[in-house]
Amino acid sequence: MFTLAHLSDLHLALTPKPSELAGKRGLGYVNWQRKRKYIHRPDVLTAITRDLQTRSAEHVVVTGDLSNFSLPGEYAWARRWLESIGRPAEVTVIPGNHDVYVRSAEELPAKFWGDYMRGDDGLEQFPFVRNRGDVALIALSTGVPTGPFLATGRLGQPQLARLAEALEQTHGRFRIVLIHHPPVSPARRYFRRLVDAEDLRLVLAAKGAELLLHGHDHRRSLVWIAGTGNKKIPAVGVPSASAQAKYGHEDPAGYTIFRIDGSSDSWCCETVSYQRAVNGEIGECARFRIY
Ligand SMILES: [Fe+2]
Repeated sequence: MFTLAHLSDLHLALTPKPSELAGKRGLGYVNWQRKRKYIHRPDVLTAITRDLQTRSAEHVVVTGDLSNFSLPGEYAWARRWLESIGRPAEVTVIPGNHDVYVRSAEELPAKFWGDYMRGDDGLEQFPFVRNRGDVALIALSTGVPTGPFLATGRLGQPQLARLAEALEQTHGRFRIVLIHHPPVSPARRYFRRLVDAEDLRLVLAAKGAELLLHGHDHRRSLVWIAGTGNKKIPAVGVPSASAQAKYGHEDPAGYTIFRIDGSSDSWCCETVSYQRAVNGEIGECARFRIY
């Protein structure tokens, strides 16, 4: 039995200096002051983190948007939070669009979180692969700087080609693809979609995977996408780990535990989702078997 925890989208935010408010950060800061600062709360993240630590997960995955404005202080804050969760070998991180918010921040996720974003081969290149027990974690990056009012992501052909290779090389393991943006977005999320989602789905349909975990939408979700043959791949989203309440389509803070057992011809995988209620209590809100 392998126990994996998934959480995402911490949105740890600091106040940008006036010199940092040009362009996209300025617009993002207006949005933060108007509404986002009332949603993403460090005290909520602390409560979620404490609850998660009682579950004794062997490994934790964090699928992006640890920072909010890609400010150096936010990466350092996220680094301290990561260290409170576990050692780099026990925690896997990928960046989200907020972690590569502006072009000048492109190198900062690797600078601050590099050892949490590295494959078993020691290379810092996406996708990276970490084998843990019978599980293979295949970590992608969709974080690319975009213009104002956009929160799109892109994998690019080189990364998609390496993903196909990684899925082949880990065939027989319980392959978990980690990605910030979901592989399918509703029309209302057009300006927040993964622009090459169709190419990703083609690779997954050709090579197969056992599970895909994502963040970005800030909601608990499960969709099944095409795998090899008649197989379907469950794509599971989690809410933001710092969201203090339901907001629009977004769910209150939570995380999911996966219990994975069995072998390549008969996997068992149960998911248990935990959610923070309005009164601050954190409890189980959904449980189902995906294998
Ligand atoms: Fe996010």
